[in-house]
Amino acid sequence: MLEIHSLTKLLPGGRVLFVDLSLSLAAGEYVAIMGESGVGKSTLLNLIAGLEAPDRGAISIAGQRISGLPDEAAARLRREKLGFVFQAFHLLPHLTLLQNVRVPLLLLGRDDPARATAMLAAVGLGERLGAYPRELSGGELQRVAIARALVHRPALLLADEPTGNLDPETAREILQLLHAEIRANGTTAILVTHSLQAAASADRVLELTPAGLRPRPSAP
Ligand SMILES: Nc1ncnc2c1ncn2[C@@H]1O[C@H](COP(=O)(O)OP(=O)(O)OP(=O)(O)O)[C@@H](O)[C@H]1O
Ligand SMILES: [Mg+2]
Repeated sequence: MLEIHSLTKLLPGGRVLFVDLSLSLAAGEYVAIMGESGVGKSTLLNLIAGLEAPDRGAISIAGQRISGLPDEAAARLRREKLGFVFQAFHLLPHLTLLQNVRVPLLLLGRDDPARATAMLAAVGLGERLGAYPRELSGGELQRVAIARALVHRPALLLADEPTGNLDPETAREILQLLHAEIRANGTTAILVTHSLQAAASADRVLELTPAGLRPRPSAP
C-alpha cells in the first residue's frame, strides 16, 4: 500500500536529515513512528503526502508514485487516498467545526453532513458543531483535526502526534476511536508519537534516528 524506497532528504544548508530510508506497509497495517524531536518525523510525513520533495528516492501510495508528481496530480492523490492529522492542526479559521470536517467529503463530491456530525460526536464535540476554531482549546482543535482526517475513510492515514495535546484519559479514548475507524475501513496508518502508550496501540513500532528507520525494541 505504501512503498518508500531509498529516500534521502537534505535540509537547506546541506544538513542530512535521512539517507536511503525505506519502508513498506501492507494494506491495513498500522505502525507507530517514534524518535527525538527534530529527527525528521513530520518531514517524513510531509514527504509521503507529497507536500515536500525528496532529494532522492521514491514514494508510492496504492501503486501510484507521489514523489515527482505535478502539484495538481499530487493534490488529487491526497484528496482521494489520504487523511492527515497535522501537528499544527491546520483547520480553516473561517469555517465552523462541522464545515471543517465536511471539507474532505466536499472535495470528493461526496458531502455527507450526517457522517461529519457523527465523527465530531465521536470525538466528543457533537455539541459544538457551529463553533469556530478560535473558540476551541488546543485539545479540542486536535480532536476536530482527527475527525477531519478520518471522515472520508482514507486508504492511508498520517497522524502527527494526534494525542499530544490531550489528557491521558481523552488520549486513550481518541486512540480507541482511531483504531476502530482504521480497522473498520481497512486503512493503512502511520502514527507519529512521543507517547509509549499511544505507540502500543500499533501493530509495530519503529524509531527514526539519524541512522534511519529501525524497529524499536519492545519494552520488557
Ligand atoms: N524548511 C525548513 N528549513 C530548515 N530546516 C527545516 C525546515 N523544515 C524542517 N527543518 C528542520 O528539520 C528537522 C526535522 O524537523 P521535523 O519537523 O521533521 O522534526 P520532528 O521529528 O517532527 O520533530 P518534533 O518531534 O519536534 O515534531 C528539524 O531540525 C527542523 O528544524
Ligand atoms: Mg514533528
